[in-house]
Amino acid sequence: LGQKIYHHHQIDSTNKEAKKLAAAGEKEGTIVISEEQLAGRGRLGRTWVSPPQTGIWMSVILRPPISPADASKITLIAGLAVCEGIQAVTGLPAQIKWPNDIVLHNKKICGILTEMSAEMEKVNYIILGIGINVNINSFPEDIKNTATSLKIEGEKDYDRKEIVKAILTNLEKYYEAYLNKQDLEDLLEKYKRHCLTLGKEVKIIHRNEEFIGKAVDLSEEGELVVEKQDGQVVTVFSGEVSVRGL
Ligand code: BTN
Repeated sequence: LGQKIYHHHQIDSTNKEAKKLAAAGEKEGTIVISEEQLAGRGRLGRTWVSPPQTGIWMSVILRPPISPADASKITLIAGLAVCEGIQAVTGLPAQIKWPNDIVLHNKKICGILTEMSAEMEKVNYIILGIGINVNINSFPEDIKNTATSLKIEGEKDYDRKEIVKAILTNLEKYYEAYLNKQDLEDLLEKYKRHCLTLGKEVKIIHRNEEFIGKAVDLSEEGELVVEKQDGQVVTVFSGEVSVRGL
């Protein structure tokens, strides 16, 4: 990964750009990175604040030979790679909030937006968009209670390049391990160790429906296993849910 890197000073969204490249045949492993995004995109149609020179705003093009149904697993792998990369470089106790937010002291420092194109039950490409708040000093009023940066938490500046490198090394390692074995067992074992959601009360919001339960486990497929208040056990798929800690 990262054989070819497009480094922009400013761009609307690295995901959007990476999609364009992928649709035009760009190879697996190519990365689009920008110092600033003017229209950074988040999950569930949200925007992603991406100020200049203070964050890591990057997208990785992948072409895994898997079916679309397995694409969410790539997102889990990315969450694991990012979490461990951040821990290794900063020494800060980053954790994963299922499926793939990375948090520090319960506030979000990183989000991952996976976008996929598939044809005839085969993935054509996956864009893995990773946004990390590195040296950001402060956040807009509306997100300042839920978002933070490595700098705010660690009280110093961090080298963004070093973090990118650590993440790509991990991502390559875990991605290849998954493709070779086609099973998530070892990766999920690691993932669970970093996952802050397990054992917690959560509120799941899915298409206007809401329920409260306890996140008890991850399934073999990486879905969240939730025990509802009435004892019923359900597994939720990462695609369209929003999970809130209580
Ligand atoms: C989330 O909502 O948690 C996902 C945020 C993903 C942000 C990253 S920044 C790089 C890439 N380009 C985008 O427009 N979004 C992703």
